[in-house]
Amino acid sequence: MLKPGSVRRIAIIGPGLDFANKEYGNDFYPPQSIQPFAVLDSLIRLGLTDAGMFQLTTLDISPSVNIHLARTSRNAAAGKPYVVQLPWNSAVPFSQEYLASFVTYWEALGKQVGTPVKPVEVPGALADTMHIHAVSIRPEIAARVIPLDMNIVYERVPALDADEKFDLIIGTNIFIYYGAFEQSLARANLAAMLKPGGFVLSNDMLADKVLSKLEEAHRTTIEVRAQPQITEHVYCYRKQP
Ligand SMILES: C[S@@+](CC[C@H](N)C(=O)[O-])C[C@H]1O[C@@H](n2cnc3c(N)ncnc32)[C@H](O)[C@@H]1O
Repeated sequence: MLKPGSVRRIAIIGPGLDFANKEYGNDFYPPQSIQPFAVLDSLIRLGLTDAGMFQLTTLDISPSVNIHLARTSRNAAAGKPYVVQLPWNSAVPFSQEYLASFVTYWEALGKQVGTPVKPVEVPGALADTMHIHAVSIRPEIAARVIPLDMNIVYERVPALDADEKFDLIIGTNIFIYYGAFEQSLARANLAAMLKPGGFVLSNDMLADKVLSKLEEAHRTTIEVRAQPQITEHVYCYRKQP
């Protein structure tokens, strides 16, 4: 549904810092925000985004996230790369189908936006199951990230001109925290910031109790784990003209 080179303005809602969500003893490296760079990496690999022509905006309510990303962007503007640690814990029991795709994805992750560097040392107790590689993200990529302090339920980037609106907005593991009314307000705010024909991707189905001009365009389902069963969905919404 997306044409090559068509994704120039990208927004990530709630990029997070991954120290907040560490299970299985993964807290042996400093806080970092992977999602903005993982998304860019995929978009560039798929030929949807030109590495020299994009702008990526993050919208988060957390001062920790916003301060971290503002520092990252400032440092990058001064020529300092951003190093991310990319762990895979093979003790987590994924389904065969998910695992095969995940490992391929994990191995390639970061190659479009940076270069491999020596990762942090894995603690001995985790050495058998924790696989990690690190990527130093090019400053010119990290400098293009613009963090905004915003609550997507109640706020939107005000008065965007038509050519400033987003081509793609991604928000994962965020709308689950809200009820149908708040999700509907968020849906309307997302729609207002999108170009006509632009897309929203989320792993939560967004309630639609407020008029939003966002229509469901596609849905992907994947079994992450067989027993006990965990199935993930990705919902894709398109802004009507
Ligand atoms: C669980 S983390 C998800 C991080 C990342 N998106 C992921 O999928 O792993 C939720 C993130 O959403 C942010 N958040 C929660 N409610 C929000 C809201 N109403 N507007 C903007 N950001 C919000 C939190 O501060 C946090 O950074």
